[in-house]
Amino acid sequence: MIVILDLGSEQNTLIARDIRSLGVYTEIHPHDITADQLGALPNVRGVILNGGPNRVVDGVSIDASDAVYQSGLPLLAVDHQGKADQNLGSWPQEEEARMDVLKQFVFDQCKAQKNWNMENFIADQIDLIREQVGDKKVLLALSGGVDSSVVAALLIRAIGKQLTCVHVNHGLLRKGEPEQVVEVFQKQMGANLVYVDATDRFLTKLENVADPEKKRKIIGAEFIRVFEEEARKLDGIQFLGQGTIYPDIVESGTKTAKMVKSHHNVGGLPEDMQFELVEPLKMLFKDEVRACGTALGLPDNMVYRQPFPGPGLGVRCLGAITRDRLEALRESDAILREEFDKAGLAGKVWQYFTVVPDFKSVGVRDNARSFEWPAIIRAVNTVDAMTATIEQIDWDVLARITQRITHEVPGINRVLYDLTPKPVGTIEWE
Ligand code: XMP
Repeated sequence: MIVILDLGSEQNTLIARDIRSLGVYTEIHPHDITADQLGALPNVRGVILNGGPNRVVDGVSIDASDAVYQSGLPLLAVDHQGKADQNLGSWPQEEEARMDVLKQFVFDQCKAQKNWNMENFIADQIDLIREQVGDKKVLLALSGGVDSSVVAALLIRAIGKQLTCVHVNHGLLRKGEPEQVVEVFQKQMGANLVYVDATDRFLTKLENVADPEKKRKIIGAEFIRVFEEEARKLDGIQFLGQGTIYPDIVESGTKTAKMVKSHHNVGGLPEDMQFELVEPLKMLFKDEVRACGTALGLPDNMVYRQPFPGPGLGVRCLGAITRDRLEALRESDAILREEFDKAGLAGKVWQYFTVVPDFKSVGVRDNARSFEWPAIIRAVNTVDAMTATIEQIDWDVLARITQRITHEVPGINRVLYDLTPKPVGTIEWE
Protein backbone atom coordinates (compact mmCIF):
# COMPACT_ATOMS: atom_id res chain seq x y z
CA MET A 1 0.00 0.00 0.00
CA ILE A 2 0.90 3.67 -0.29
CA VAL A 3 0.58 5.68 2.92
CA ILE A 4 -0.64 9.27 2.68
CA LEU A 5 0.44 11.32 5.65
CA ASP A 6 -2.06 13.91 6.72
CA LEU A 7 -0.35 17.24 7.09
CA GLY A 8 -3.61 19.10 7.17
CA SER A 9 -4.41 19.14 3.47
CA GLU A 10 -8.01 19.07 2.36
CA GLN A 11 -6.79 17.08 -0.65
CA ASN A 12 -5.92 13.92 1.26
CA THR A 13 -9.01 12.10 0.14
CA LEU A 14 -8.65 13.31 -3.47
CA ILE A 15 -5.14 11.89 -3.63
CA ALA A 16 -6.29 8.68 -1.98
CA ARG A 17 -9.05 8.36 -4.56
CA ASP A 18 -6.56 9.00 -7.39
CA ILE A 19 -4.19 6.30 -6.16
CA ARG A 20 -6.96 3.76 -5.66
CA SER A 21 -8.21 4.54 -9.17
CA LEU A 22 -4.78 3.32 -10.37
CA GLY A 23 -5.57 -0.04 -8.73
CA VAL A 24 -3.23 0.57 -5.79
CA TYR A 25 -4.40 0.48 -2.19
CA THR A 26 -3.76 3.53 -0.01
CA GLU A 27 -4.62 4.75 3.47
CA ILE A 28 -4.43 8.16 5.14
CA HIS A 29 -2.54 8.29 8.45
CA PRO A 30 -1.61 11.03 10.93
CA HIS A 31 1.60 12.97 10.25
CA ASP A 32 3.16 11.86 13.54
CA ILE A 33 2.87 8.13 12.82
CA THR A 34 5.50 6.21 14.81
CA ALA A 35 8.00 3.69 13.45
CA ASP A 36 6.01 0.89 15.13
CA GLN A 37 2.71 2.05 13.65
CA LEU A 38 4.26 2.39 10.21
CA GLY A 39 5.90 -1.03 10.57
CA ALA A 40 2.56 -2.60 11.52
CA LEU A 41 0.88 -1.55 8.27
CA PRO A 42 0.90 -4.31 5.68
CA ASN A 43 3.14 -4.07 2.65
CA VAL A 44 3.91 -0.32 2.65
CA ARG A 45 5.69 0.62 -0.60
CA GLY A 46 5.92 4.38 -0.27
CA VAL A 47 4.78 7.48 1.61
CA ILE A 48 3.22 10.69 0.36
CA LEU A 49 3.69 13.74 2.59
CA ASN A 50 0.68 15.79 1.78
CA GLY A 51 1.33 19.19 3.34
CA GLY A 52 -1.56 21.48 2.81
CA PRO A 53 -2.66 24.95 3.77
CA ASN A 54 -2.92 23.85 7.40
CA ARG A 55 0.70 22.83 7.57
CA VAL A 56 1.13 25.52 10.16
CA VAL A 57 -1.54 24.45 12.61
CA ASP A 58 -2.43 26.85 15.43
CA GLY A 59 0.84 28.69 14.83
CA VAL A 60 2.85 25.48 15.07
CA SER A 61 4.61 24.13 12.03
CA ILE A 62 4.02 20.40 11.68
CA ASP A 63 6.09 17.86 9.85
CA ALA A 64 6.22 14.10 9.45
CA SER A 65 7.94 12.18 12.24
CA ASP A 66 11.57 11.10 11.97
CA ALA A 67 10.32 7.54 11.64
CA VAL A 68 9.05 8.42 8.18
CA TYR A 69 12.28 10.08 7.01
CA GLN A 70 14.34 7.20 8.40
CA SER A 71 12.12 4.46 7.02
CA GLY A 72 14.04 4.16 3.77
CA LEU A 73 10.71 4.14 1.89
CA PRO A 74 10.31 6.23 -1.27
CA LEU A 75 8.81 9.60 -0.30
CA LEU A 76 6.84 12.08 -2.36
CA ALA A 77 6.25 15.54 -0.94
CA VAL A 78 3.21 17.36 -2.13
CA ASP A 79 3.87 20.97 -1.45
CA HIS A 80 1.11 23.33 -2.29
CA GLN A 81 3.35 25.98 -3.79
CA GLY A 82 4.46 23.29 -6.26
CA LYS A 83 8.01 23.32 -4.84
CA ALA A 84 10.08 20.28 -3.98
CA ASP A 85 11.20 19.63 -0.45
CA GLN A 86 14.89 18.80 -0.27
CA ASN A 87 15.68 15.27 -1.46
CA LEU A 88 12.04 14.57 -2.15
CA GLY A 89 10.04 14.52 -5.32
CA SER A 90 7.60 17.37 -5.85
CA TRP A 91 4.13 17.32 -7.24
CA PRO A 92 3.16 20.08 -9.66
CA GLN A 93 -0.29 21.43 -9.05
CA GLU A 94 -1.51 21.38 -12.67
CA GLU A 95 -4.26 18.79 -12.99
CA GLU A 96 -2.85 16.91 -16.03
CA ALA A 97 0.65 16.63 -14.63
CA ARG A 98 -0.73 15.36 -11.44
CA MET A 99 -1.66 11.95 -12.38
CA ASP A 100 1.62 11.48 -14.32
CA VAL A 101 3.80 12.30 -11.32
CA LEU A 102 1.61 10.10 -9.18
CA LYS A 103 1.84 7.15 -11.58
CA GLN A 104 5.60 7.53 -11.83
CA PHE A 105 5.96 7.61 -8.06
CA VAL A 106 3.58 4.74 -7.35
CA PHE A 107 4.73 2.35 -10.07
CA ASP A 108 8.35 3.31 -10.94
CA GLN A 109 9.68 4.37 -7.55
CA CYS A 110 7.52 2.37 -5.15
CA LYS A 111 7.01 -0.63 -7.46
CA ALA A 112 3.48 -0.89 -6.07
CA GLN A 113 1.30 -3.68 -7.43
CA LYS A 114 -2.03 -3.13 -9.14
CA ASN A 115 -3.99 -5.44 -6.89
CA TRP A 116 -6.69 -3.18 -5.47
CA ASN A 117 -10.00 -4.38 -6.85
CA MET A 118 -13.35 -5.49 -5.45
CA GLU A 119 -12.82 -9.23 -5.88
CA ASN A 120 -9.61 -9.08 -3.79
CA PHE A 121 -11.24 -6.77 -1.26
CA ILE A 122 -14.21 -9.10 -0.78
CA ALA A 123 -12.00 -12.19 -0.52
CA ASP A 124 -9.73 -10.46 2.07
CA GLN A 125 -12.67 -9.17 4.10
CA ILE A 126 -14.33 -12.57 4.19
CA ASP A 127 -11.13 -14.02 5.69
CA LEU A 128 -10.82 -11.14 8.17
CA ILE A 129 -14.48 -11.33 9.25
CA ARG A 130 -14.22 -15.10 9.80
CA GLU A 131 -11.02 -14.61 11.77
CA GLN A 132 -12.56 -11.88 13.95
CA VAL A 133 -15.92 -13.53 14.57
CA GLY A 134 -14.97 -17.22 14.79
CA ASP A 135 -18.12 -19.19 15.59
CA LYS A 136 -19.79 -16.30 17.44
CA LYS A 137 -22.90 -14.36 16.43
CA VAL A 138 -23.22 -10.90 14.86
CA LEU A 139 -26.14 -8.49 14.98
CA LEU A 140 -26.75 -5.81 12.35
CA ALA A 141 -29.26 -2.96 12.17
CA LEU A 142 -30.23 -3.16 8.51
CA SER A 143 -31.94 0.04 7.40
CA GLY A 144 -31.85 -0.81 3.70
CA GLY A 145 -29.54 2.17 3.03
CA VAL A 146 -26.44 1.61 0.90
CA ASP A 147 -23.90 1.08 3.69
CA SER A 148 -25.89 -1.25 5.93
CA SER A 149 -27.09 -3.24 2.91
CA VAL A 150 -23.55 -3.79 1.64
CA VAL A 151 -22.31 -4.77 5.12
CA ALA A 152 -25.21 -7.23 5.37
CA ALA A 153 -24.40 -8.78 1.98
CA LEU A 154 -20.71 -9.11 2.91
CA LEU A 155 -21.44 -10.61 6.33
CA ILE A 156 -23.94 -13.06 4.82
CA ARG A 157 -21.23 -14.15 2.36
CA ALA A 158 -18.70 -14.52 5.20
CA ILE A 159 -20.66 -16.03 8.08
CA GLY A 160 -24.16 -16.85 6.79
CA LYS A 161 -26.52 -17.75 9.60
CA GLN A 162 -24.20 -16.47 12.33
CA LEU A 163 -25.53 -13.05 11.31
CA THR A 164 -28.93 -11.75 12.40
CA CYS A 165 -30.20 -8.59 10.68
CA VAL A 166 -32.84 -6.46 12.34
CA HIS A 167 -34.88 -4.23 10.05
CA VAL A 168 -36.92 -1.67 11.98
CA ASN A 169 -39.70 -0.24 9.86
CA HIS A 170 -40.54 3.01 11.62
CA GLY A 171 -43.34 3.71 9.19
CA LEU A 172 -41.38 6.63 7.71
CA LEU A 173 -39.63 4.72 4.93
CA ARG A 174 -40.25 5.31 1.25
CA LYS A 175 -42.73 3.24 -0.70
CA GLY A 176 -41.47 -0.29 -1.32
CA GLU A 177 -38.36 -0.05 0.87
CA PRO A 178 -39.22 -2.47 3.71
CA GLU A 179 -40.55 -4.97 1.16
CA GLN A 180 -37.31 -4.75 -0.80
CA VAL A 181 -35.22 -5.42 2.32
CA VAL A 182 -37.25 -8.57 3.03
CA GLU A 183 -37.15 -9.69 -0.61
CA VAL A 184 -33.40 -9.19 -1.14
CA PHE A 185 -31.99 -10.29 2.21
CA GLN A 186 -34.45 -12.89 3.48
CA LYS A 187 -35.85 -14.40 0.29
CA GLN A 188 -32.90 -14.09 -2.12
CA MET A 189 -29.89 -14.25 0.20
CA GLY A 190 -31.42 -16.48 2.88
CA ALA A 191 -30.40 -14.23 5.78
CA ASN A 192 -31.71 -14.44 9.33
CA LEU A 193 -33.86 -11.34 9.23
CA VAL A 194 -35.96 -9.99 12.05
CA TYR A 195 -38.48 -7.63 10.48
CA VAL A 196 -40.12 -5.32 13.00
CA ASP A 197 -43.10 -3.29 11.89
CA ALA A 198 -42.98 -0.55 14.51
CA THR A 199 -45.11 1.90 12.52
CA ASP A 200 -47.85 2.26 15.13
CA ARG A 201 -45.35 2.72 17.91
CA PHE A 202 -43.49 5.51 16.13
CA LEU A 203 -46.60 7.30 14.85
CA THR A 204 -48.20 7.20 18.29
CA LYS A 205 -45.08 8.75 19.85
CA LEU A 206 -45.06 11.41 17.14
CA GLU A 207 -48.72 12.36 17.48
CA ASN A 208 -49.17 16.15 17.83
CA VAL A 209 -45.40 16.77 17.83
CA ALA A 210 -44.76 19.63 15.41
CA ASP A 211 -41.22 20.72 16.32
CA PRO A 212 -38.68 19.26 13.83
CA GLU A 213 -35.93 18.69 16.38
CA LYS A 214 -38.35 17.02 18.82
CA LYS A 215 -39.52 14.77 15.97
CA ARG A 216 -35.90 13.82 15.17
CA LYS A 217 -35.16 13.08 18.85
CA ILE A 218 -38.25 10.91 19.24
CA ILE A 219 -37.50 8.95 16.06
CA GLY A 220 -33.83 8.44 17.04
CA ALA A 221 -34.57 7.41 20.63
CA GLU A 222 -37.43 5.11 19.68
CA PHE A 223 -35.26 3.45 17.05
CA ILE A 224 -32.61 2.59 19.65
CA ARG A 225 -35.32 1.30 22.00
CA VAL A 226 -36.87 -1.01 19.40
CA PHE A 227 -33.46 -2.25 18.26
CA GLU A 228 -32.39 -2.87 21.85
CA GLU A 229 -35.58 -4.84 22.59
CA GLU A 230 -34.97 -7.07 19.59
CA ALA A 231 -31.28 -7.52 20.49
CA ARG A 232 -32.24 -8.64 24.02
CA LYS A 233 -34.44 -11.39 22.57
CA LEU A 234 -31.44 -12.93 20.82
CA ASP A 235 -28.98 -15.18 22.64
CA GLY A 236 -25.22 -15.12 22.50
CA ILE A 237 -24.63 -12.05 20.34
CA GLN A 238 -21.08 -10.79 20.78
CA PHE A 239 -20.57 -8.59 17.75
CA LEU A 240 -22.36 -5.65 16.19
CA GLY A 241 -21.96 -5.15 12.45
CA GLN A 242 -21.72 -1.54 11.36
CA GLY A 243 -21.72 0.30 8.05
CA THR A 244 -18.95 2.73 8.93
CA ILE A 245 -17.21 3.92 5.75
CA TYR A 246 -13.92 5.76 5.20
CA PRO A 247 -15.36 9.30 4.93
CA ASP A 248 -17.01 8.75 8.37
CA ILE A 249 -13.53 8.26 9.79
CA VAL A 250 -11.70 10.88 7.74
CA GLU A 251 -14.40 13.50 8.27
CA SER A 252 -14.41 12.93 12.01
CA GLY A 253 -11.42 15.25 11.98
CA THR A 254 -7.76 14.40 12.29
CA LYS A 255 -5.14 16.16 14.32
CA THR A 256 -4.55 18.56 11.49
CA ALA A 257 -7.76 18.75 9.50
CA LYS A 258 -10.75 20.68 10.74
CA MET A 259 -13.66 18.71 12.14
CA VAL A 260 -16.34 18.42 9.45
CA LYS A 261 -18.93 16.36 11.28
CA SER A 262 -18.94 13.93 14.13
CA HIS A 263 -18.70 10.25 13.37
CA HIS A 264 -22.18 9.00 14.03
CA ASN A 265 -22.88 5.31 14.34
CA VAL A 266 -25.70 3.21 15.79
CA GLY A 267 -24.43 4.03 19.30
CA GLY A 268 -26.76 4.88 22.10
CA LEU A 269 -27.23 1.28 23.26
CA PRO A 270 -27.34 0.80 27.03
CA GLU A 271 -24.11 0.31 29.01
CA ASP A 272 -24.74 -3.40 29.58
CA MET A 273 -25.03 -4.02 25.85
CA GLN A 274 -21.48 -3.51 24.73
CA PHE A 275 -20.63 -5.41 21.56
CA GLU A 276 -17.38 -5.66 19.70
CA LEU A 277 -17.74 -3.92 16.32
CA VAL A 278 -17.37 -5.52 12.91
CA GLU A 279 -16.80 -2.75 10.38
CA PRO A 280 -15.69 -4.34 7.12
CA LEU A 281 -16.29 -1.23 4.95
CA LYS A 282 -14.39 1.21 7.10
CA MET A 283 -11.61 1.70 4.55
CA LEU A 284 -13.90 2.20 1.54
CA PHE A 285 -15.03 5.39 -0.13
CA LYS A 286 -18.71 5.62 -1.07
CA ASP A 287 -18.25 4.68 -4.73
CA GLU A 288 -16.17 1.68 -3.64
CA VAL A 289 -18.97 0.66 -1.24
CA ARG A 290 -21.38 0.73 -4.19
CA ALA A 291 -18.99 -1.31 -6.37
CA CYS A 292 -18.69 -3.80 -3.51
CA GLY A 293 -22.50 -4.06 -3.27
CA THR A 294 -22.77 -4.68 -7.01
CA ALA A 295 -20.05 -7.34 -6.84
CA LEU A 296 -22.01 -9.01 -4.03
CA GLY A 297 -25.14 -9.14 -6.18
CA LEU A 298 -27.23 -6.32 -4.66
CA PRO A 299 -29.72 -4.67 -7.06
CA ASP A 300 -28.79 -1.32 -8.62
CA ASN A 301 -31.71 0.53 -7.08
CA MET A 302 -30.41 -0.42 -3.64
CA VAL A 303 -26.74 0.26 -4.35
CA TYR A 304 -27.27 3.56 -6.18
CA ARG A 305 -30.10 4.91 -4.10
CA GLN A 306 -30.08 8.58 -3.23
CA PRO A 307 -29.29 9.67 0.35
CA PHE A 308 -32.23 9.35 2.70
CA PRO A 309 -32.22 10.89 6.19
CA GLY A 310 -32.49 8.68 9.28
CA PRO A 311 -35.80 10.31 10.35
CA GLY A 312 -37.03 9.52 6.84
CA LEU A 313 -40.36 10.89 5.66
CA GLY A 314 -40.87 12.17 9.21
CA VAL A 315 -39.04 15.41 8.33
CA ARG A 316 -40.87 15.77 5.01
CA CYS A 317 -44.38 15.43 6.42
CA LEU A 318 -44.10 18.92 7.89
CA GLY A 319 -45.31 19.75 11.37
CA ALA A 320 -47.33 17.20 13.33
CA ILE A 321 -47.47 13.98 11.29
CA THR A 322 -50.86 12.51 10.41
CA ARG A 323 -51.30 9.12 8.75
CA ASP A 324 -53.28 10.39 5.77
CA ARG A 325 -50.77 13.16 4.99
CA LEU A 326 -47.89 10.71 5.45
CA GLU A 327 -49.48 8.40 2.87
CA ALA A 328 -49.95 11.34 0.47
CA LEU A 329 -46.25 12.11 0.94
CA ARG A 330 -45.18 8.50 0.36
CA GLU A 331 -47.29 8.18 -2.79
CA SER A 332 -46.22 11.54 -4.27
CA ASP A 333 -42.56 10.69 -3.56
CA ALA A 334 -42.96 7.32 -5.31
CA ILE A 335 -44.42 9.03 -8.40
CA LEU A 336 -41.59 11.58 -8.43
CA ARG A 337 -38.98 8.82 -8.23
CA GLU A 338 -40.67 6.79 -10.95
CA GLU A 339 -40.86 9.78 -13.33
CA PHE A 340 -37.24 10.81 -12.59
CA ASP A 341 -36.19 7.26 -13.43
CA LYS A 342 -38.10 7.33 -16.70
CA ALA A 343 -36.64 10.73 -17.63
CA GLY A 344 -33.08 9.47 -16.96
CA LEU A 345 -32.65 11.91 -14.07
CA ALA A 346 -32.21 9.36 -11.29
CA GLY A 347 -28.42 9.06 -11.61
CA LYS A 348 -27.97 12.77 -12.41
CA VAL A 349 -29.76 14.51 -9.58
CA TRP A 350 -28.19 14.03 -6.14
CA GLN A 351 -31.34 14.14 -4.07
CA TYR A 352 -34.98 14.54 -5.03
CA PHE A 353 -38.13 14.07 -3.04
CA THR A 354 -41.48 15.59 -2.21
CA VAL A 355 -42.54 17.45 0.91
CA VAL A 356 -46.14 17.78 2.09
CA PRO A 357 -46.85 20.77 4.35
CA ASP A 358 -49.63 20.92 6.94
CA PHE A 359 -51.83 23.46 5.21
CA LYS A 360 -54.44 23.21 2.50
CA SER A 361 -55.50 25.32 -0.44
CA VAL A 362 -58.63 25.60 -2.53
CA GLY A 363 -58.91 23.91 -5.90
CA VAL A 364 -61.46 22.43 -8.31
CA ARG A 365 -61.91 18.72 -8.74
CA ASP A 366 -64.76 17.08 -10.71
CA ASN A 367 -66.52 20.47 -10.98
CA ALA A 368 -66.57 20.84 -7.23
CA ARG A 369 -64.51 22.79 -4.72
CA SER A 370 -61.55 20.86 -3.29
CA PHE A 371 -59.57 21.77 -0.19
CA GLU A 372 -56.33 19.75 -0.15
CA TRP A 373 -52.57 19.83 0.56
CA PRO A 374 -49.89 20.85 -1.92
CA ALA A 375 -46.91 18.58 -2.69
CA ILE A 376 -43.59 20.40 -2.99
CA ILE A 377 -40.87 19.00 -5.25
CA ARG A 378 -37.26 19.42 -4.17
CA ALA A 379 -34.44 18.36 -6.53
CA VAL A 380 -30.91 19.39 -5.64
CA ASN A 381 -27.32 18.80 -6.63
CA THR A 382 -24.40 18.98 -4.26
CA VAL A 383 -20.96 17.56 -3.61
CA ASP A 384 -20.93 17.43 0.16
CA ALA A 385 -24.49 18.47 1.19
CA MET A 386 -23.04 21.63 2.79
CA THR A 387 -24.24 23.73 -0.15
CA ALA A 388 -26.65 22.74 -2.90
CA THR A 389 -27.89 24.03 -6.23
CA ILE A 390 -31.26 23.52 -7.87
CA GLU A 391 -31.64 21.10 -10.74
CA GLN A 392 -33.35 22.69 -13.75
CA ILE A 393 -35.94 20.08 -14.54
CA ASP A 394 -37.46 19.93 -17.98
CA TRP A 395 -40.90 21.57 -18.05
CA ASP A 396 -42.54 18.52 -19.65
CA VAL A 397 -41.24 16.26 -16.89
CA LEU A 398 -42.57 18.64 -14.23
CA ALA A 399 -45.94 18.84 -16.00
CA ARG A 400 -46.22 15.03 -16.15
CA ILE A 401 -45.34 14.69 -12.47
CA THR A 402 -47.89 17.37 -11.58
CA GLN A 403 -50.59 15.65 -13.62
CA ARG A 404 -49.90 12.29 -11.99
CA ILE A 405 -49.60 13.51 -8.39
CA THR A 406 -52.75 15.63 -8.53
CA HIS A 407 -54.75 12.78 -10.11
CA GLU A 408 -53.33 9.71 -8.39
CA VAL A 409 -52.63 10.87 -4.85
CA PRO A 410 -55.65 11.38 -2.58
CA GLY A 411 -55.49 14.69 -0.76
CA ILE A 412 -53.12 16.59 -3.10
CA ASN A 413 -54.50 19.30 -5.39
CA ARG A 414 -51.38 21.37 -6.19
CA VAL A 415 -47.70 20.77 -7.00
CA LEU A 416 -45.01 23.36 -6.26
CA TYR A 417 -41.34 23.40 -7.27
CA ASP A 418 -38.84 24.62 -4.68
CA LEU A 419 -36.28 26.94 -6.33
CA THR A 420 -34.25 27.68 -3.20
CA PRO A 421 -30.54 26.80 -3.15
CA LYS A 422 -28.66 25.94 0.06
CA PRO A 423 -27.97 28.38 1.52
CA VAL A 424 -30.47 30.07 2.03
CA GLY A 425 -32.66 26.98 2.36
CA THR A 426 -31.47 23.66 3.70
CA ILE A 427 -31.98 20.55 1.59
CA GLU A 428 -34.69 19.18 3.87
CA TRP A 429 -37.54 21.44 4.91
CA GLU A 430 -37.28 20.52 8.57
P1 XMP B 1 -29.90 19.67 5.16
O1 XMP B 1 -31.39 19.64 5.28
O2 XMP B 1 -29.21 19.85 6.47
O3 XMP B 1 -29.51 18.21 4.65
O4 XMP B 1 -29.42 20.63 4.12
C1 XMP B 1 -28.21 17.82 4.25
C2 XMP B 1 -28.23 16.32 4.01
O5 XMP B 1 -28.43 15.64 5.25
C3 XMP B 1 -29.62 14.89 5.22
N1 XMP B 1 -30.27 15.05 6.53
C4 XMP B 1 -30.26 14.12 7.50
N2 XMP B 1 -29.73 12.90 7.54
N3 XMP B 1 -30.56 12.60 9.73
C5 XMP B 1 -29.89 12.12 8.67
O6 XMP B 1 -29.41 10.98 8.72
C6 XMP B 1 -31.12 13.83 9.77
O7 XMP B 1 -31.73 14.22 10.76
C7 XMP B 1 -30.96 14.62 8.58
N4 XMP B 1 -31.36 15.87 8.25
C8 XMP B 1 -30.94 16.10 7.00
C9 XMP B 1 -30.45 15.44 4.08
O8 XMP B 1 -31.33 14.46 3.54
C10 XMP B 1 -29.36 15.86 3.11
O9 XMP B 1 -28.89 14.76 2.34
